[in-house]
Amino acid sequence: MRISVFRKAHFNAAHRLNSSLLSVQENERIFGKCNRPNYHGHNYDLEVKVSGEVDPVTGYLIDLGVLKDIIAEQVTDYLDHRNLNLDIPEFRDLNPTAENIAIVIWKLLRPHLDERFDLQVRLYETERNYVEFPVS
Ligand code: NI
Repeated sequence: MRISVFRKAHFNAAHRLNSSLLSVQENERIFGKCNRPNYHGHNYDLEVKVSGEVDPVTGYLIDLGVLKDIIAEQVTDYLDHRNLNLDIPEFRDLNPTAENIAIVIWKLLRPHLDERFDLQVRLYETERNYVEFPVS
């Protein structure tokens, strides 16, 4: 029986949206306030979805305590209270949009989950704006 379990997490981080492939004027036009040079913060909410088969012995898909620790060690301890542009090497040459942050989080988590699990992450940058990776 395939099923999905979810674990929520939270972190705060600062960023600035800016592309080195665009001019100063284009960056200002496309990213608006998010392009202001001195950074701004977000309260990011993360939902991690793990899917697979229920273990017939334990009745678990995955031990949520184990999943909680993986998310903390690989993602929230790493990103929380950081400046994503300056502090996190993954964003040195990657614009820290919600889209790219979600993809980076997926890449951070994927090696730490057994291959039998499917992984999807949903990242809320605001209450109303969120992204999901990969597409289901
Ligand atoms: Ni922003």
